[in-house]
Amino acid sequence: MAVTPDHQRIAPARAGLAVLPTPLQEAPRLAEALGIGGSLLLKRDDLTGFAVAGNKARQLEMLVADASASGAGVLVTGGTPGSNFCQAAVAAAAWAGMRCVLVYAGSPPPVRHPNHAAAVRWGADVRWTYDADRGSVDTAIETTAAELTRKGLRPYAVPRGGATPVGSAGFHLAALELDAQLRDRSGGGSDGSATVVVGAGSGGTLAGLVSGAVALGRRLRMRGAAVSRPPEETARRVLHLGRECARLMGTEPPREADVVVYDARGPGHGHPSEEGERAARVALRTSGIVLDPVYSAKALGALARIIGDRRADPGHTTVFWHTGGLLDAVAGWSHDDR
Ligand SMILES: Cc1ncc(COP(=O)(O)O)c(C=O)c1O
Repeated sequence: MAVTPDHQRIAPARAGLAVLPTPLQEAPRLAEALGIGGSLLLKRDDLTGFAVAGNKARQLEMLVADASASGAGVLVTGGTPGSNFCQAAVAAAAWAGMRCVLVYAGSPPPVRHPNHAAAVRWGADVRWTYDADRGSVDTAIETTAAELTRKGLRPYAVPRGGATPVGSAGFHLAALELDAQLRDRSGGGSDGSATVVVGAGSGGTLAGLVSGAVALGRRLRMRGAAVSRPPEETARRVLHLGRECARLMGTEPPREADVVVYDARGPGHGHPSEEGERAARVALRTSGIVLDPVYSAKALGALARIIGDRRADPGHTTVFWHTGGLLDAVAGWSHDDR
């Protein structure tokens, strides 16, 4: 039988992949360029310090710990060949002494995306669905895990993006980490309230952050920038996952109003948006911050609309959660002549 996460057993073991806490940095020149009157802080999860995993190190350190505790020997996951999560999952599995099977949507491309190339370098056993629909991966992960079980192996199946309550627990803890940093900065002078903007794809990152924010008493307003699914669908997924995550952590479950998601898709998932590209250039040229075109650039591009009137408030703190995506950023530059 495939090993599945046991919610009661896990909470919350970590495999110790990420170097934590990640820095929280003031970005005054970026704030000025974006027309933000108050304080703009960057939560540097591009610097989690494990492989090129970015934010995904936080989910993977929970997932890999759970897989190891379950006695699993093979991690099975998937996505598109450009997936940051997939390449990070292979490295995380290696760290835990496990094999990793990746199921990619579509068929082998003539040129490998850097994330695909990294996954192969980390030692992934790559399979293809031969169906360009990203959804084809979901059933393929299950059938691959079942096939490995029949062969006598112990697979641990992880859905696209690591979006499970166990994975999100890593981001519940990240909300607590940010809260401690904000209070340290204020020296007890403020209640540490802030608006936090983060990109949302599969929703596991935002779900954990929302779960953590609710546990903290809602001082942190978590705001998602949906880059993949429509915002309503993203919000539904995040609410469900956030509630499951809170159950796992033994904390108050999020309410519908706790999940606020904006549309940042632009022309669609994986296609750069004008808003995002502008923001990425500004971040790079004012502050040396590297954003990827698929997630973090679109999230920063949407930041001003997300914080709305708070933009003019000099006493307001905004946190932009930089989720990484370094290989995607560099892949984007290779066909950019600006
Ligand atoms: C760089 C980057 N940022 C943000 C996200 C979004 O995270 P989630 O899928 O947990 O919503 C991802 C997901 O792959 C990512 O790779």
